[in-house]
Amino acid sequence: MTSKSTYNLIIVGGGPIGLATAFHYKKKNQNASVLIVEKAYVHNQSGSSNGQTRQFRYQYAEKYMTELAYATESYWKELEDFHGDKLINRVGSLWFGEGDAEGSEGQIGPAMENLDELNLPYEKLTNKEIEDRFGFTGLGESEVGLFQPNGGTINVVETIEVLKNLCMDFDVEILEYNEINVIDSTGVHVDNIHIRAEKIVVTAGANSKKLIGPMLNTVVWNLASIHYKVKYESFDLPSWFYFSEQIRYDDKLVEGGFYYGFEKINLEGEWYFRICPAFSSQIETDLNENIVMPLQADVDMTTNWVKKHLGFVSPVPEFISLGQVSLPRESSKKLYLDYTDSSQRIVVCSSGWNFKFIPLLGYIIAMEVLGERHGFDISPFALSTLLQASEGKTTSTRKLPF
Ligand code: BEZ
Repeated sequence: MTSKSTYNLIIVGGGPIGLATAFHYKKKNQNASVLIVEKAYVHNQSGSSNGQTRQFRYQYAEKYMTELAYATESYWKELEDFHGDKLINRVGSLWFGEGDAEGSEGQIGPAMENLDELNLPYEKLTNKEIEDRFGFTGLGESEVGLFQPNGGTINVVETIEVLKNLCMDFDVEILEYNEINVIDSTGVHVDNIHIRAEKIVVTAGANSKKLIGPMLNTVVWNLASIHYKVKYESFDLPSWFYFSEQIRYDDKLVEGGFYYGFEKINLEGEWYFRICPAFSSQIETDLNENIVMPLQADVDMTTNWVKKHLGFVSPVPEFISLGQVSLPRESSKKLYLDYTDSSQRIVVCSSGWNFKFIPLLGYIIAMEVLGERHGFDISPFALSTLLQASEGKTTSTRKLPF
């Protein structure tokens, strides 16, 4: 089944963070043996890397996240150099809406303060400027925006392709269609076969919780991805995110408040915008593989928003699909990256809107398991502290080098 019974490193989950970890680990330590075990196949559509695009941005309500996004740039550049072409389309990132509305991605007001403090470029925009320049309609007097020119759209398919090719160049062994059911401090169990490892990294997305347990304090958002046909072909948009208050009636979401979209893409010969709700009416404690399509209510709320704010698209939802994204339950956590055990043999990295950080996360995890300095503070990403305290756990508290 595998070429060895013992590896220096076993990575559970062949998603982009797992691939990036294997690449950085082998780059530092070419003679080491690395095994990636993937439940399905590399770049399947059932996990959190489904679809073709993700947003790249600097603006965050937390300064350390803006610093992390900025620090990721050189790691993206390295991947783009290997690829021979860009992986991020720098169309810019527009954030607009109510400055104090807070979603899981952040808040406009504090994000502006961080960009100011770190001296990163952006433009402040009024509702009228956003309407005139980008063509949105029906924005309220109190709505504001920021346009950050370094932001843009990440090509998910090509990013995974380049990472997979790098892993193959470095002789990383990839075992697909095999599920790990148990991890212990000596290795992993695949179909009752024990494979030993010095270190284990768990990057299995929403499946990680089954292996790590409640220390990974996460929920799964079942998210809609929708496309709307562009009415005027000359029209285009940057990557964008809209913020407003959510409205609930009898505990049911009737206005989701948060929407996002990308520049236009050609699907089957026609131009479309991918426009998605950044909320879910179907949040589950664990991954539910029986859910295969988003709730119609979320699609309807998005279409109503499109009718009100995007006159240049046809408000008919098409090419609808589901993404199942694991997110930290604690709103203060942006992602988890931590050891699960006091002997520091097992690292987990899971949950959050992480695609933009993938090459850097791979580097940080690889350096952690190699026991080498990486200079980044991972303490904001520690596993659930209450559960750790009961197990007498400690975490690394290195500082950012900025
Ligand atoms: C983000 O930039 O983190 C993000 C963008 C769209 C949806 C959710 C998150």
